[in-house]
Amino acid sequence: MAVGAATPPDRPARPARPLLQPPRGMKRRRTLGGTAGRIALVHALAHIELNAIDLAWDVVARFSGEGLPRGFFDDWVGVAAEEAEHFALLAARLGKLGSEYGALPAHDGLWEAAAATAHDLVARLAVVPLVLEARGLDVTPAMIARLERAGDGASAAILGRLYGDEIGHVAVGVRWFEHLCRTRGLDPGGAFRDCVRRHFSGALKPPFNDAARAAAGFAAGYYAPLAG
Ligand SMILES: [Fe+2]
Ligand SMILES: [Fe+2]
Repeated sequence: MAVGAATPPDRPARPARPLLQPPRGMKRRRTLGGTAGRIALVHALAHIELNAIDLAWDVVARFSGEGLPRGFFDDWVGVAAEEAEHFALLAARLGKLGSEYGALPAHDGLWEAAAATAHDLVARLAVVPLVLEARGLDVTPAMIARLERAGDGASAAILGRLYGDEIGHVAVGVRWFEHLCRTRGLDPGGAFRDCVRRHFSGALKPPFNDAARAAAGFAAGYYAPLAG
């Protein structure tokens, strides 16, 4: 579109604030009692899923020259496909709630994590699947309960579906993190904690969902020493 052209009547006007903001610039989420609060939550989750699609493909493309076996790429392509399903489910739910993806600002924290770990696959796997996606396992059950209490069973059911898949994504992260540590002669627990201290700002936030993390093969011995 030409600079200064009028906004066509069938398109929403551009928001005055930039769509992507630093995580600290984001407003606190409202309660889920009203539709606006539920739209804000589902929009934030859709944004995370959209980033997760990019992050999975980024692993496939960026680290393709490291001599990894075919199974590594199969796993991450599978993760990317599931993240795309997750985004589609949440985007459709936003439509049902009277909104759409892109209607609200979002944060660029996930992509910052991708940039901070672009130099090393061990660091990327430590921070993205084993810190950020594992954090999703910690907070999702409470989110599902809040949505159910607010009477939004449809959004809660979508989060329930995502939760099962995300255990699988953390498991993929653990499998390849441990594979790389073996091939590089690293102690996995020590390498994990070293990567988190260097490339993730802040301590890991308890309480942890130890049961879901264990279901993904992610033992508490990895992360408990980093609890803030
Ligand atoms: Fe996802
Ligand atoms: Fe995921």
